[in-house]
Amino acid sequence: MKRLLITIDGPSGAGKTTVSRMLADRLGYRYIDTGALYRGVALATLSSGLNPDDDEGLFRLFNTLKLKFVPGEKGLRLFLNGSDITDRIRTPEISMVASAVSAKQVVRDYLLNLQRDLGRDKNVVFEGRDMGTVVFPDADLKFFLDASLQTRAKRRFKELSSTTPQSLEVVETDMRRRDTNDSTRDLAPLKPAKDAVRIDSTDLTIEDVVDRMVSAVNALT
Ligand code: DC
Repeated sequence: MKRLLITIDGPSGAGKTTVSRMLADRLGYRYIDTGALYRGVALATLSSGLNPDDDEGLFRLFNTLKLKFVPGEKGLRLFLNGSDITDRIRTPEISMVASAVSAKQVVRDYLLNLQRDLGRDKNVVFEGRDMGTVVFPDADLKFFLDASLQTRAKRRFKELSSTTPQSLEVVETDMRRRDTNDSTRDLAPLKPAKDAVRIDSTDLTIEDVVDRMVSAVNALT
């Protein structure tokens, strides 16, 4: 079987994480959640007390950061300067700061090299916003996964209910704001790569989505 690098991009709540993990499992590939890296940078920025608009300060901070994935029992865990931050980066506050810092050149430059290094050995599924357009324009197979705003907000609402419950209205408003931030920013805006396979998951089960992806992989190999 060929060694492939597969990318899955799309807005938040489209089901990317579940689907990427399942696709990676089915193929025996590694799964890499690049949103976690932006969240890690957001946490580092908040903890440092830096103003997120202080580009030089951020640049200096990144020179000292140790942000890396370490294999755990259920996939990769993210470590920041030796501490496991995998669970701490899942709060609504970090979501907002991650969306804000991800619009910055200094942040995207820092994470670009880190992500490309992680793709060197292939046999990997990368999930993010600009995997197929910017980070891996030569990926072997690219997917763009979407769903209606209402469906995505309902899914995120359910996810948050056990940890940081919020009303459905707040979740939907936050999501709309993040969608606008992510897709209208000048740098690496969220958009499908020209050669991406587009899948709308609004009326599909997770299994349906993964089956379609596996079919696309099989058509290649
Ligand atoms: O997928 P997520 O919600 O964990 O991503 C957090 C933020 O990071 C999101 O607002 C967009 C940004 N992001 C990005 O700009 N590029 C990526 N490849 C992944 C995430």
